This record gives sequence, structure tokens and C-alpha cells, in this order.
Amino acid sequence: MELPALQSLFFVALDADDKPVKRMHSFLILQPGETTSCVGCHEQRVKAPHPMKADLAALRRPPSQVQPITDVPRVFDFPRDIQPILSKHCVECHNADRTEGHVDLTGDKTIMYSMSYLTMQTRGLVSDGRNLPKSNYEPYKIGSSASKLMTLIDGSHYDAKLSEHEAKMVRLWIETSATYPGTYASLGCGTYGVGQPHGELRKRCASCHDKELKNRKGEKYMELFFRGRSVHRPGPLCNLSHPEKSRLLRGPLAKEAGGLASCKEAVFGTKEDPLYQQMLAAIRDAHNRLNQGKRFDMPGFRPNEHYIREMQRFGFLPKDLKPDNPIDVYAVDRAYWDSFNCRVQTAGKN
Ligand code: HEC
Ligand code: HEC
Ligand code: HEC
Repeated sequence: MELPALQSLFFVALDADDKPVKRMHSFLILQPGETTSCVGCHEQRVKAPHPMKADLAALRRPPSQVQPITDVPRVFDFPRDIQPILSKHCVECHNADRTEGHVDLTGDKTIMYSMSYLTMQTRGLVSDGRNLPKSNYEPYKIGSSASKLMTLIDGSHYDAKLSEHEAKMVRLWIETSATYPGTYASLGCGTYGVGQPHGELRKRCASCHDKELKNRKGEKYMELFFRGRSVHRPGPLCNLSHPEKSRLLRGPLAKEAGGLASCKEAVFGTKEDPLYQQMLAAIRDAHNRLNQGKRFDMPGFRPNEHYIREMQRFGFLPKDLKPDNPIDVYAVDRAYWDSFNCRVQTAGKN
């Protein structure tokens, strides 16, 4: 097999239906002209490799070339490529107002990421082995073959029926590690914290939502938890696109006032409750900061000074770039990545 030099190569063994059987979790990078094989890394450490038989069928033909997949993005970007598919097929039943199965698949913004991307994680819809110190998975136990999301889009779940191409997009997004941003420009534009009034929350919510935890020294302390989320990491409970739709506010609010009345009693009878107003103000504050700062997937986003400086240094952005000149970060990234393509220089005149 002939492989491109100086590129990160990721191996996934597929079966006849394109389902991943096994993958190698590390990248492999080859130098120009380098010949390598699985042996060299995968042989028994205490034995010399078997001598290669010269009559291997694969050695009797010219090397295969890597075939690019041309009908999907080279680098996936969840908000750009996957969210529109979810918005088309899932959001009708899974949004802040229709809470079937307590699933929200909208692109609404949260403190970090979007609602739907958090749902992928909290509901374990995607199997990517993230943050697990585990290796040598059984066949079919990681990647799209083990991802629940694939069974929700195969036509068996309510009305959701994706086209073949949409399903392929989702599958390959999972195979390439199910990441959120598809651009380096996203770095440093992620988190907009919500400063909740903790003292007040403790007074009003602790009787039902307190949980005993232990710190590293083994000392006990209490922390508020709402639907499995710590008050310090509320994630999907705060909706930064539509602050009033936040579950942190709607859970304890009475039905008549537009709430979900999830608590045993209507903790907030109306929206006039001062604590409700205080919490709403905190989420609105994060909403305003987000709209001003803007993430990579929001109109008017501008990458930070470090991205601009380095891309100017490498020649992918003009040196005399004005603050209001538009920047297509995906095109700039692509030019940067393409600059690593190895072109073999031949000595001599021809
Ligand atoms: C016509 C309405 C409808 C559509 C469209 C729909 N769902 Fe659902 N979904 C439901 C209902 C109702 C439930 C709750 C009952 C259940 O679990 O079957 C649910 C439950 C779920 C659950 C929780 C189930 C579990 O076992 O954890 C997930 C995750 C989910 N849906 C994902 C999706 C995805 C992804 C799509 C789009 C590809 C989608 N849904 C489209 C109605 C819908
Ligand atoms: C440069 C060294 C290197 C080369 C060459 C290499 N591998 Fe690996 N491979 C590793 C390392 C290191 C691991 C363990 C970490 C990991 O899982 O990625 C690994 C793990 C694996 C795994 C196990 C993943 C798991 O945990 O389930 C498979 C399968 C695999 N490699 C297949 C291959 C195949 C097939 C080839 C040849 C086409 C190959 N590797 C070439 C270094 C290499
Ligand atoms: C009388 C007990 C009680 C009090 C007081 C109470 N809750 Fe709840 N709350 C519950 C119960 C029971 C549930 C449902 C089970 C669960 O999700 O933990 C719930 C659920 C929730 C949910 C999940 C909503 C959803 O449907 O996703 C949120 C958010 C929440 N409460 C916030 C609060 C806040 C904020 C306060 C204080 C201002 C509060 N609760 C006070 C009992 C209470």
C-alpha cells in the first residue's frame, strides 16, 4: 500500500458492510520514502519476525493507493455538518419544549458545546472510547458499530429516516472520533460560565437536591445535584441561546407559569420569584457574553489574535488583514494542512 507521507494515518478495519471491527487508536506518520509494516511495532518483543515469504500475493501487484472519500467533508465539524441532520430529523420531537425521553437534540448553545453534542455524551449515543484508559477492545465494541446513535437513525426510531448520504455522514463523523469543532480557530472560544447564586439555591433546593460527597482527603461535604448534574457543572440545564428555556429554571417552575413542574412542589409559583429572576439574570449574563464573544459556529465569529498571527506568519492570511476583513477559517485551515503535503523534490534539471 502506498500512503501519503507526513500525514496522520488512522487505521480502522471494516467488514463488508463498512462496519468497524477493530481500530488502532494511535496515529501513524510516515516520512517520505519510508517503508514500514505492522511488524516492527506489533511483533513479539522477544522474538525476531518470521522471514517474509517472497511469493505473498500482495507483493505481486503494484501497491494500492488510498482512495479519498469525496462526498463528505475532509474534516468534520459537528455544528456545520451533523447538527443540520439532527435538526431535520430529530428536533421536531427532541427540543426544549418537547422533552420526550428527556432528550434535547437542538443546536442551542450551552456553557460549552451545544445541547445536542452534550446529549451525545450524557446519553452515551456515541462510542468513541473517550477518556477511558482501555485498549484492545473486543471486535465491534468501539466506533459506529457500537454507537446507539446508529440504531436511532436506521429507520426503526419513530419517523426518523435519514438518507443514505446523511447516515454516511453520521457514521464517518463517529469513525473520525466524533469531535465538536472542525477548525483550529475554535481554540479558546469555548466556555461561558454561569455564576449562580449558590447561597440562595442552597436555601431553596437543598432539602431535595443535596447529595453527600467526599473530597480527596475523605472529608464529607454536600453539593446540589439536578438531574444528575452538579450545580457547579450544570451543562445541559442552562440554555444560553434561550435563557428562559433552561431546565434549571423550568424544572422548579409551576406548569401554569410555563414551567415543567418537575419538582414535587412548585418551588417557583411564578416567574416573579426573586430567586428565579436572579438565576435567569445569571444565565442571561452568560448569553450576552456569548453573543458578544461568539463561538466558531456563530455568524460574525472572528478567530483570536494568536490564530491570525500564526496564519499570517505561515502566509495563509494576508499580512495587511484589516479587522473587518472576513476570514473563512475552514479554508485557511485547509491551506495550512495542505502545506504539509509532501512533494518529492528531484535533483537535476528535468
Ligand atoms: C416523531 C417523534 C420522534 C422523532 C422524529 C425522534 N424521536 Fe427520539 N424519541 C421519541 C420519543 C417519544 C422518545 C421517548 C420514548 C422512547 O424512548 O421511545 C424518544 C427517545 C429518544 C431517545 C432516548 C432513548 C433512550 O433509550 O435513551 C434518544 C436518544 C432519541 N430519542 C434520539 C433520537 C434521534 C437521534 C432522532 C433523530 C434521528 C430522534 N430521536 C427522532 C420521539 C421521536
Ligand atoms: C509505528 C508503530 C505501529 C505500526 C507501524 C502499527 N501499529 Fe498498530 N498499534 C501501535 C500501538 C502503539 C498500539 C497500541 C495503542 C493503540 O491502541 O493505538 C497499536 C494498536 C493496534 C491495534 C489494537 C487496537 C485496540 O486496542 O483494539 C490494532 C488492531 C492495530 N494496532 C493494527 C495495526 C495494523 C493492522 C498495522 C499495520 C497495517 C499496525 N497496527 C501498524 C503501533 C503501531
Ligand atoms: C420538594 C423537593 C424539591 C425541591 C425543594 C426542589 N426540587 Fe427540583 N426536583 C425535585 C424532584 C423530585 C425532581 C425530579 C427528580 C429529579 O430529576 O431529580 C426534581 C427535578 C428538578 C430538575 C430537573 C428538571 C427536568 O425535568 O429536567 C431541576 C432542574 C430542578 N429540580 C431544579 C430545582 C431547583 C433549582 C430548586 C431550588 C430552587 C429545586 N429544584 C427545588 C424535587 C425538589
